Amino acid sequence: MEFFIDTAITEEIREINAWGVLAGVTTNPSLIVASGRDFREVVQEIAGLVGGAISAEVTALDAEAMIREGREVAAWSDHVVVKLPLTPAGLQACRALTDDGIRTNVTLCFSVPQALLAARAGATYISPFAGRVDDIGWDGIDLIRQIKEAYVLGGIETKVLAASIRHPTHVVQAALAGADVATIPYKVFRQMVTHPLTTAGLDGFMKDWAKRAGGEVQK
Ligand code: E4P
Repeated sequence: MEFFIDTAITEEIREINAWGVLAGVTTNPSLIVASGRDFREVVQEIAGLVGGAISAEVTALDAEAMIREGREVAAWSDHVVVKLPLTPAGLQACRALTDDGIRTNVTLCFSVPQALLAARAGATYISPFAGRVDDIGWDGIDLIRQIKEAYVLGGIETKVLAASIRHPTHVVQAALAGADVATIPYKVFRQMVTHPLTTAGLDGFMKDWAKRAGGEVQK
């Protein structure tokens, strides 16, 4: 399973990208607003930092305007993947942009029928929102598992991108459910890398190292 980071804050992207683990970035209109940056400027900066697949979401609601906006956003960088909402207009735009050779990420997916439609409209990625499904008392990870199973049975190549990830356990569950990618918030990456036994173990090693002849700690 590949890792994307789910943020438009470039300081967060730089820090996690330095670990060498990122294959892309997802943004959405709320994340762009939270960054306080101009949409095009921040997407182009992210594309220069990470490369890979950089999802940038259209904000138009009707199909013709979505297609126009999608073509414009895709022209900002070869790394841009146009993110489209899972609506009739979004499916129509997905088909048109796919036929243009533009990669798409169909977002706000909450059911297997929606995921099957997006795949037939040519989506490169489908984004089921695990956390938001859990929030209404359903099982977000089971949704991911069912979408992946349906895609495998149907010979569908659309990649399952587990979104709305809230904690490290979601990441593990998404991987075991067969997700191709998980898009993960900065805070969850920090939680994933941290373990109290790693911290305590390293501390012990460094204290012992400082006791050797000479007493300096290796930098
Ligand atoms: C996906 O691409 C979305 O940006 C994101 O995962 C939404 O997550 P949220 O439910 O935490 O807003």
